[in-house]
Amino acid sequence: MPFVIAVPKEKAEGERRVAIVPEVVQKLTRAGHEIRIETGAGAGAFYPDDLFTAAGAKVVSGRAELFQDARVVLSVQPPAPDDIDQLAEGSIVIGFMNPSRNPESINRMCDRKVTAFALELVPRITRAQSMDALSSQATAGGYAATILGAAHCPKFLPMLTTAAGTIRPATVLILGAGVAGLMAIATARRLGALVEAYDVRRAAGEQVRSLGAKFLELEINAEGQGGYARELTAEEKAQEQQMVSAAVARADIIITTAAIPGRKAPVLITKETVMTMKPGSVIVDLAAESGGNCELTQAGKTVTEHGVTIIGPTNLPAHVAFHASQMYAKNLQQFLALIIDKEGSLVSEFSDEILASSLMVHAGEIRHTPTRELLQGGRS
Ligand SMILES: NC(=O)c1ccc[n+]([C@@H]2O[C@H](COP(=O)([O-])OP(=O)(O)OC[C@H]3O[C@@H](n4cnc5c(N)ncnc54)[C@H](O)[C@@H]3O)[C@@H](O)[C@H]2O)c1
Repeated sequence: MPFVIAVPKEKAEGERRVAIVPEVVQKLTRAGHEIRIETGAGAGAFYPDDLFTAAGAKVVSGRAELFQDARVVLSVQPPAPDDIDQLAEGSIVIGFMNPSRNPESINRMCDRKVTAFALELVPRITRAQSMDALSSQATAGGYAATILGAAHCPKFLPMLTTAAGTIRPATVLILGAGVAGLMAIATARRLGALVEAYDVRRAAGEQVRSLGAKFLELEINAEGQGGYARELTAEEKAQEQQMVSAAVARADIIITTAAIPGRKAPVLITKETVMTMKPGSVIVDLAAESGGNCELTQAGKTVTEHGVTIIGPTNLPAHVAFHASQMYAKNLQQFLALIIDKEGSLVSEFSDEILASSLMVHAGEIRHTPTRELLQGGRS
């Protein structure tokens, strides 16, 4: 039996994305579901209410009407505790959950017996690629980082041969060549820059080179579990710092994306290294929220130190909210297909590998073990 799917306007500061776009509304309404969207929910991403109405959604004002009888809530950020209080027991919320930053929401969903799926926990297996919101949003973030860096850089990125002389191309250094880093490389190459990149996973080298960038190699290969990086030993860290410092001094724009799941971001650029950089150069630190890859990064701020602009964005995908929302909404549409059966009803068990892995809260329990360990100490 079809049901009501509610999409609230995101409340978090600076969040311009929306969890559904008109194209996805059309697909879901065609399957018989009622899509209810809060008025203005798409405004930050430039999807006006009338486009949602035309696609078949019901645009409502106020959370009370939005959540009434809703079986599923689609969101970008986790719902706030007062929103959770308006959800019926057994309703399902799907979005990024970020439990270490939103413990109250996770605990409240537990108390209210709301089921929560965390998109950041979707396993990175081939079958789940179309619902991999971490990747789609990292793609948006990597693109936005290069554009932001270029906008703050006082140089052209491409080589120019003009009547007023020849301009050398800018050098862009990318530290961390995962999904965001590779997109940042591709964008910088399209803008004509010389690009160098480094990652502790040697496997990234081939991808970096295939994008036309130079891969900086160390003897280290720190590929850990599931294709993610492991933490480096003290000796490896020292080697890395030395090589990175030399590359940093050459660069006009540096984009750092290095992350280790569940840990503070590794420091790749120290205060001392920043002092060796050319004045006017720019660092865009994508790891700002998890501590920063540069020692001088301040999350959410742009600071200038020794003539170097250091940008610490906290939500870069929101800078390209239109397309970031489109990709995110498609990820959600694919994920939803796993919890809806042939009759259009919600499935009652979540044994599918993707559902089981991303199940954060269910039937009054935190199902994701690391989150349970992190939060439940505080509850007893
Ligand atoms: N469906 C799939 O199969 C799928 C989808 C997306 C990503 N992946 C893989 O998952 C892995 C992680 O991707 P991600 O973008 O989410 O990574 P991430 O955001 O966890 O980290 C970003 C990058 O930082 C690198 N890094 C960590 N410590 C570093 C250090 N000290 N110095 C330099 N670089 C450092 C990591 O190796 C990674 O490439 C990659 O192997 C990627 O190809 C697979």
